Amino acid sequence: MLKAYSHTDADAKSLLPQVSKYTEMATLMKLPFWILTEDSKPIGIVTTGKEPMQMLAPIGTPVATVNLIQKNLNPKILDEFASQSLKLALEKEAQHATIEFASDEKDAINSFLKADFRVLAETFTMTLPLDRDFDPSEDLQFTQAEKKEMLRWVTAARKFLAGSADVVIERILEQLTDFPKNLLEMYYSLEKFYFVDKDERGVGILNFSPKAGRISNIGVDPSKRGQGIGRQIMMFGLKKLKAADCSQAKLRVHVDNKPALNLYNSLGFKVAERRKFLIWEKRAA
Ligand SMILES: CC(C)(COP(=O)(O)OP(=O)(O)OC[C@H]1O[C@@H](n2cnc3c(N)ncnc32)[C@H](O)[C@@H]1OP(=O)(O)O)[C@@H](O)C(=O)NCCC(=O)NCCS
Repeated sequence: MLKAYSHTDADAKSLLPQVSKYTEMATLMKLPFWILTEDSKPIGIVTTGKEPMQMLAPIGTPVATVNLIQKNLNPKILDEFASQSLKLALEKEAQHATIEFASDEKDAINSFLKADFRVLAETFTMTLPLDRDFDPSEDLQFTQAEKKEMLRWVTAARKFLAGSADVVIERILEQLTDFPKNLLEMYYSLEKFYFVDKDERGVGILNFSPKAGRISNIGVDPSKRGQGIGRQIMMFGLKKLKAADCSQAKLRVHVDNKPALNLYNSLGFKVAERRKFLIWEKRAA
């Protein structure tokens, strides 16, 4: 039988240090969370809050995120964890709840599928050691977006990222165009955003995080694909990450995104992990 402790519960105090890795964000954003335990051992966390916590629904929508922190639990406990997580999310009127797994965590994934979650996206995490130089062609112009240009960047990104096979990216971009200015500015402070032009025409976008060593998004105008532009944008991003002293680059790509996978493979990226992103969504009455 699992027990759920609210983060404010006096009995939860001794558990907090054991789960701190998973509750950093909740603590920082002052969000309520529950620790689910089995035989006094924490096995998972449910955090509730409001969008833009996940950027998958309009701002203000109540949502929940679930984390499983114990591996190799038996299927019965996993079933119970999935249904209790959903129950807590529903009590807080969450409109959706999400959880992520390594794709080989089959029992845990099955328990959440049984609890009415579905797979929203499956991705590879890929990495590349930055032990060589990258020289993008001079045919393209890369211009860093200014803070006031973020809405223009997000609008361009929606157009140029079309067809990435990744519903999560599409949904996030859809929400971003409706973001108030201050939230877009917060997003701006997290990463570097670039417009890519060729012959003074917008042909692509790029954003990356030197801090995380991550290429976050790359997109090419659908009518300009297959002409070598994507490869050059990657070269530029990798050059920037290297200049920021990153020893490796990482990125995420949907497992069905063949063009992007071919591009990353040809640059030497290797798959480090395969992950499934699951969502439960309240059905319209
Ligand atoms: C992925 C993407 C950026 C590639 O840009 P691009 O300008 O078309 O790519 P390039 O012309 O530079 O091609 C580079 C390599 O990508 C691969 N590639 C490109 N288009 C491809 C296609 N239609 N099918 C299979 N592989 C393809 C090839 O390996 C190609 O190398 P090659 O020409 O030596 O065979 C572009 O398809 C895109 O914007 N897709 C939508 C957004 C997206 O998926 N972004 C990545 C999200 S993680």
